[in-house]
Amino acid sequence: MPDRGLLPDSSPNTPAAVDFGYRRGQLCAEGVALERIAAAVGTPAYVYSRSAIERAFARLEAVFRGLPHTICYAVKANSNLAILRLFVRLGSGFDVVSGGELERVRRAGGAPGRIVFSGVGKTREEIREALRAGILLLNVESEAELELVAEQAARLRRSAPVSLRVNPDVRAGDHPHIRTGHHTHKFGLDWPEARRLYLRHRRHRWLLWRGISAHIGSQILRVEPFRRAARRLASYVGDLARMGIRLRYLDFGGGIGVRYWRERPFALRDYARTVSAAFAPLGCHLLLEPGRFLVAHAGVLLTRVLYLKQVRHRTFVIVDAAMNDFLRPTLYGAVHPITTARQDSRGRRRRVTLVGPVCETGDCFLQDWPLPPVRPGDLLVLWGAGAYGMVLASNYNSRPRPAEVLVSGNRFRIIRRREARSDLWRGERP
Ligand code: LLP
Repeated sequence: MPDRGLLPDSSPNTPAAVDFGYRRGQLCAEGVALERIAAAVGTPAYVYSRSAIERAFARLEAVFRGLPHTICYAVKANSNLAILRLFVRLGSGFDVVSGGELERVRRAGGAPGRIVFSGVGKTREEIREALRAGILLLNVESEAELELVAEQAARLRRSAPVSLRVNPDVRAGDHPHIRTGHHTHKFGLDWPEARRLYLRHRRHRWLLWRGISAHIGSQILRVEPFRRAARRLASYVGDLARMGIRLRYLDFGGGIGVRYWRERPFALRDYARTVSAAFAPLGCHLLLEPGRFLVAHAGVLLTRVLYLKQVRHRTFVIVDAAMNDFLRPTLYGAVHPITTARQDSRGRRRRVTLVGPVCETGDCFLQDWPLPPVRPGDLLVLWGAGAYGMVLASNYNSRPRPAEVLVSGNRFRIIRRREARSDLWRGERP
């Protein structure tokens, strides 16, 4: 097993050594040295491993084999067309939250009949687009939205396949910003309210009750909140069935946590067992909306050292990537390990603070992080950057956004060119 420096190894939900590992002293994505990619496309750059995505998808498929289900990849985690196309080939469905994501999936060749549309603020235009496309399910989050869906469906003379997103009122998720399933959050409907709507519109001319949905949060590391939410959801489905409303789809959202550094996520088997135990007796078709689990460890961010700077006792390593390229450390205080791309055991590790060039103190990737001696020009690798990486990138400080590269075996391909200087003011009028 190759030594991958400071990475946690042999634990569930960490990057597999077959996808990213040192070969002959060089860190490789599958069969391609990251140094080679950096030399060809420059830095900062996102690099994804195709086999890592395929493996994550296959693992999730395998644990749910016993239950009729469809994995609907949450596009928001990484929406590059090449990544979406890969999911299309794998037979995945999709969870979208905007007209933009819907169109991306369609451009990547995704079938509308495998798309679910979530989100609290769908616009009239987005609802029309979804209805016209003939998507699988609209996850509706409020009475006002339901009325708008009904009105647009009538206008287009097309039945709307709808589900209500309910709020099961559980606390879950690693960080307050990404918790969604508690009654204090903006998401979903309380059960009494949802129940009232299901009953009231049970024989609606244009609304077709196809399902019920929930998504309780993201980066969830314990199975318990899923268990509680699943039991509640199952009881709601039973309640509706007793009143003659039979739902075909049960959409349980995403949220499976991964190990970026020291997190200890649940085993996938336990998650599947819990979900299956609650839902199998209902006879529904299960929809899952995982984002992070499928892509987080399929991606790294390459960056080069610009300068070293000593301030009193602190050594700053200033790199050419910044918070605009990868926001998670700044936004959530997330710890993403950084290692050198060259396997270099010469010299003792020293504790350094890795920062980017953006003019904010929050532009910091890691503090007091042990790193072997590095010099300007050295290539560094930030791990676990495949999910909520490029999609959260911005042009802050007028920095062009990074390139994206997809590796497959011994080959790599640029799947998004680095932004040019002129992209920075595209659409502006001086
Ligand atoms: N379904 C719905 C309705 C969602 O809102 C989300 C994520 C997902 C599925 C996918 O969740 P996942 O399996 O990836 O946990 N930017 C944050 C994560 C925000 C997640 C928002 N919703 C981060 O970087 O941690």
